Amino acid sequence: MWNVWHYIHFIVNLSMLAFAASSTIHGNPADDLVDRINLNRTAQKLKELHNNPGLGCMALQYIDACQGNCSSTNTLSCRSPEEDITEIFAPNCGVELPTVDIISGRIIGCQSNYLTPDQVFSSILSRDNKTLSVVRDKKNTELGTAFKKVHHGLFIWSVLFSSGQTNSTFVLEGGTGIKQKGGCFSGTGAQCSGANKVWFLNRKSVFKYALLTCLAHITVFPLVM
Ligand SMILES: *[C@@H]1O[C@H](CO)[C@@H](O)[C@H](O)[C@H]1NC(C)=O
Ligand SMILES: *[C@@H]1O[C@H](CO)[C@@H](O)[C@H](O)[C@H]1NC(C)=O
Ligand SMILES: *[C@@H]1O[C@H](CO)[C@@H](O)[C@H](O)[C@H]1NC(C)=O
Ligand SMILES: *[C@@H]1O[C@H](CO)[C@@H](O)[C@H](O)[C@H]1NC(C)=O
Repeated sequence: MWNVWHYIHFIVNLSMLAFAASSTIHGNPADDLVDRINLNRTAQKLKELHNNPGLGCMALQYIDACQGNCSSTNTLSCRSPEEDITEIFAPNCGVELPTVDIISGRIIGCQSNYLTPDQVFSSILSRDNKTLSVVRDKKNTELGTAFKKVHHGLFIWSVLFSSGQTNSTFVLEGGTGIKQKGGCFSGTGAQCSGANKVWFLNRKSVFKYALLTCLAHITVFPLVM
């Protein structure tokens, strides 16, 4: 009898180990980019920015509006019309219109391969003084980030900043807004892996989990017999 409990204990430990291994892969690269931006701001004694999911979803719409403009040199010049914010971005996300506030900064960049959030910070957000001054703007109070794999394997990343009241702006209807078809955005707390590379990592850890669980069952099988 002692042996049975011993084995059950062993299986529980094994499962926990497998879970820990799979959870070391961070859930959403868009959230990682927010963390990266805040790390740089707080290191310079600037206020940490609130990760607003409504703004994150709007950043995803900004990608859709600009995806045709990524040039072969990996630059992206895009100035979508101001009225898109209330006429297209907010309705597509289910952001309550009266809560739409000023977008005080926008940064967008594209790349022909997947970039990690660290690489996005150093190559897209730090690409010149203009983008850096947006990242460090004292007026900003909140932000949202998004990325999406578009046609021809291009990855587009975008960041929107706002100077609005963080607890009452860009509010998603019903708390979650309208479900998006592709890409990932920050602030929801949900896992997202819109990029192939991340999906591959996830698949690997799922495999590890399956293998460990399977091993645990094989070990206990002779005991049950
Ligand atoms: C913040 O980012 C800028 C641009 O990449 C870099 O030059 C600077 O050293 C960073 N500061 C800190 C404190 O990490
Ligand atoms: C895309 O680029 C073209 C040519 O530079 C420009 O006319 C157009 O306004 C840009 N589109 C957006 C959404 O910025
Ligand atoms: C960026 O800013 C730094 C310091 O503020 C300045 O020395 C540098 O010339 C600027 N670079 C460009 C390309 O404007
Ligand atoms: C938002 O926060 C401010 C102070 O930070 C407070 O005065 C205001 O009532 C809050 N609004 C909502 C809708 O919670």
